[in-house]
Amino acid sequence: MITFDEPTGIFHLQGKQTSYFIQKNEQNHLFHLYWGSRLEKRLPDYVLKEIKRASYIADADHITEYKLERLPQEYPAFGNSDLRKPAYQLTFQNGTRISDFRYVSHKILEGKPELEGLPSLRESDDCQTLKIQLHDSYQNLDMTLFYTLYEEGDIITRHVELENVGEDAVEINQLNSACVELPTSDLDLLHLSGSWARENGIQRTPLSQLNYRVESTRGSSSHEHNPFIALVEKETTETTGSVYSMNLVYSGNFEATVDVEMQDAVRMQIGINSSLFDWQLNASETFVSPEAVLVYSQNGLQELTHKYHNAYQEHLLPPKFAKEVRPVLVNSWEACYFDLQEESLLELAQTSKDLGVELFVLDDGWFGHRDDTSSSLGDWFVDQKKFPQGLEPFIRQIKQLGLDFGIWVEPEMISEDSELYRQHPDWCIEVPGRLKSYSRGQFVLDLANTAVQDYLIATLTELVQRYDIDYVKWDMNRSMTEPGSNVLTSIQQKEFYHRYMLGLYRVLDQVTQTFPDILFENCAGGGGRFDAGMMYYMPQTWTSDDTDAIERLSIQEGTGLIYPAITMGAHVSQVPNHQIGRVTPLKTRGVVAMQGNFGYEMDLSKLPAEEKVEIKEQIQQFKAIRSTVQLGKFYRLAVPVRDNAKAWLFVDDQQVVISYVQIHAKPNSPSKRLKLTGLSANTLYQLPTGEKRYGDELMAFGVAIDVVKEDFYSQQWILKKLEEA
Ligand code: GLA
Repeated sequence: MITFDEPTGIFHLQGKQTSYFIQKNEQNHLFHLYWGSRLEKRLPDYVLKEIKRASYIADADHITEYKLERLPQEYPAFGNSDLRKPAYQLTFQNGTRISDFRYVSHKILEGKPELEGLPSLRESDDCQTLKIQLHDSYQNLDMTLFYTLYEEGDIITRHVELENVGEDAVEINQLNSACVELPTSDLDLLHLSGSWARENGIQRTPLSQLNYRVESTRGSSSHEHNPFIALVEKETTETTGSVYSMNLVYSGNFEATVDVEMQDAVRMQIGINSSLFDWQLNASETFVSPEAVLVYSQNGLQELTHKYHNAYQEHLLPPKFAKEVRPVLVNSWEACYFDLQEESLLELAQTSKDLGVELFVLDDGWFGHRDDTSSSLGDWFVDQKKFPQGLEPFIRQIKQLGLDFGIWVEPEMISEDSELYRQHPDWCIEVPGRLKSYSRGQFVLDLANTAVQDYLIATLTELVQRYDIDYVKWDMNRSMTEPGSNVLTSIQQKEFYHRYMLGLYRVLDQVTQTFPDILFENCAGGGGRFDAGMMYYMPQTWTSDDTDAIERLSIQEGTGLIYPAITMGAHVSQVPNHQIGRVTPLKTRGVVAMQGNFGYEMDLSKLPAEEKVEIKEQIQQFKAIRSTVQLGKFYRLAVPVRDNAKAWLFVDDQQVVISYVQIHAKPNSPSKRLKLTGLSANTLYQLPTGEKRYGDELMAFGVAIDVVKEDFYSQQWILKKLEEA
């Protein structure tokens, strides 16, 4: 519930377990009072008064000792008596940069307004929105701070809108989506970072008096850093400690910053990357920032994970797919790469069907004359050499086998050797007159250009209408370099990256709305755009191009910290693994891939008979646990052999699925047990052996881990829920 107390000026956003307080003072400045565990209807109006930090700073509003820098700001401006990092920066026509927005009014609305042109969490029955209207009278600008509280889900979303109600254009240099101040820096910064094929490693760094910046400048949210940060209390574990976090619902360049200031307070912010962003706001125009999702957990990382998973499954994913289990797929990429031959593909499809696969995905190489990465992106018509009869008869045969059919596209890209490039050489991202870089032999289409957006909408609509398609894998395989557009004005060139994102979202919106029943899978060289923005349109993402089971343990752990299992593509692939050459047992590859949307990325038709038998059983096993994995609750388990194993658990009303992977065998290992969590104490569960144990026993003693002389060993237990005592 959101309330406002007029005499104290205190706003209280009170969720199921969390409270967030903002206070407006007599000067109509807004202050951040508190974000943490839930309080009753309290009015902590003494907090600001009792702040007595020393400071070498100017008085605000000519009031002696009224120093903004001493006080926790809700959405700090640049250049006043608070010289810490601002949340926004503007440049006016006279070249000056300071602004002074003051509270004017507010509204508390039921529900949640949509963000114009941008993805955001969807409205639900349990949400209310606080709109705080601010005004800068000198420049005649309105700023609105939006806060939506999902009371049951216990999360807050925020964004900011700036409207030019004056006559002069204004340049926006920065407009963060959210800013929060915490009173002490005795915290660790936690973020998800890595690279291509090594996405989302969990990084944890103790704060000191420094400015921290987690960002992308690559044009997409990137493999390098996910648009997520958390500040966690030093002793935070899975189940204890306070965690404050922000995740941006945006797929382009972002920045997430943490600034520890000289008096030890911490300012944490997230928004579009200001180093690559400026926006001219003309008279009567409004700029809308992306949305940030704020999650607080008072009980460590497990609760954090549950809140994000719940929020995204309930309010972010396309509703049609949010609670629908996903097909077991086979993908042609690691099976054939560009060497697509109709006959062997059909053989692969036939074997896949026999083994229990449900969806056949024709990956890269089916179009234009694409035999390698040097050509054909943009030419979304079938390669007659590979499919002489066209795709229709091929798809018909796949369907006759009883499989769904999926196709790969990379719509945002263009090859120099393509019909599209020959017709529209000016449709690329480029700075006219300068050399543009190839990456994977390709250029990026200029999605800031409406003609390009319209072309993509028409082409994709035509493609999906023409063929009997059930699934589309939407890939994006390079970073953006030489950012520039042939259609933007000189002023708009600075707006390029964000205009690209708005263009992409327009295309995605139209295409996914035209085909609401098609399952779209997002991909950017694996997890290069695994973010909440893309998730709004596409309910699943290919987690990483690294399919090695052991590498996937940490990639999936990091990704799963905030994104639900039902969003993560995870496939069993060949050994030696194509990315790192490691040989792992088929069973372990299966156990690891059963942590998300399960599938195969290998030529099943060429496997020895005994492996086919094993795969058939593996698929049966997955189907038996699929709804628990994709719709149940997820827990990371503490392992008794730190750094040498990972274990996790999914639970729903029917069963518990426990997975354990041990990386290396160690000599003279004592026998250990894996303690479970998330069970109900007095429920009786049946183990795979037929033995029965109560939940409290399983949580106290766990299950026995095998002692083996084998690397990359895995165990999986499925416990049936029997009865409550
Ligand atoms: C990217 C994807 C892969 C595959 C290839 C095809 O790397 O992540 O899964 O689709 O492109 O070129």
